[in-house]
Amino acid sequence: MKIKIAPSLLSADFSNLGQAVRDADSGGADYLHFDIMDGHFVPNITFGPMVVKAVRPLTKVKFLTHLMIQNPDDYIEEFVEAGSDSITVHVETCPHLHRVIQKIKSLGARAAVAINPATPIVTLKEILGDIDGVLIMTVNPGFGAQEFIESSLDKIARMRAMLQKAGRDIDIEVDGGVSAGTVGRIVEAGANVLIAGNSVFANPMGVKKAIEELRSLAEAAVSRTCTSRG
Ligand code: DX5
Ligand code: ZN
Repeated sequence: MKIKIAPSLLSADFSNLGQAVRDADSGGADYLHFDIMDGHFVPNITFGPMVVKAVRPLTKVKFLTHLMIQNPDDYIEEFVEAGSDSITVHVETCPHLHRVIQKIKSLGARAAVAINPATPIVTLKEILGDIDGVLIMTVNPGFGAQEFIESSLDKIARMRAMLQKAGRDIDIEVDGGVSAGTVGRIVEAGANVLIAGNSVFANPMGVKKAIEELRSLAEAAVSRTCTSRG
């Protein structure tokens, strides 16, 4: 599967958000990741569709919008209209997940489902045929720059095996603690979309070098995996 690097704007300088978007674009980002937090589902508040809309004209890079909010179905339309190409909802917030996914797709957006560290992968089993990606949270959602939860590696590997068994060749996104120190093992475990906030926007090497480093470590891990599987 193709490696994609998705810088998360949560760690960008919010007093200069437009520049952060341009830096990610010129630095070679495949996607931009927007963290929407409501202070209820997660203990932090970020921003809404107005901010997504404001930076939309600055780049052609696809926008992945990660809804860490209660009742996400009430806001899907607004985020798609604001320019989100992909909407990720949390399984923990959606008792009617199938309906929510159909709504995202009916609006022409890519649909992904996220699970928290304590949520088992089996909660996604019945929806695998309907979604374009799964997002494994590898920290508890709410804040950037947290430590990667090591037990997630096994969870990612079990998720990839579950997808293979279901005949679904879709993205596994990983969000939380993705850095030069963890990215290789994350890719070896079976993930291909790497969401990274702190290690990109707070990197002393700068955004472009940070993206390049993550990509080269990730691609080296893909080669190792291919060789070991013959
Ligand atoms: C956390 C967010 C992440 C966050 C990751 O709740 O969903 O997207 O930006 O930050 P890092 O990469 O710093 O762990
Ligand atoms: Zn996120």
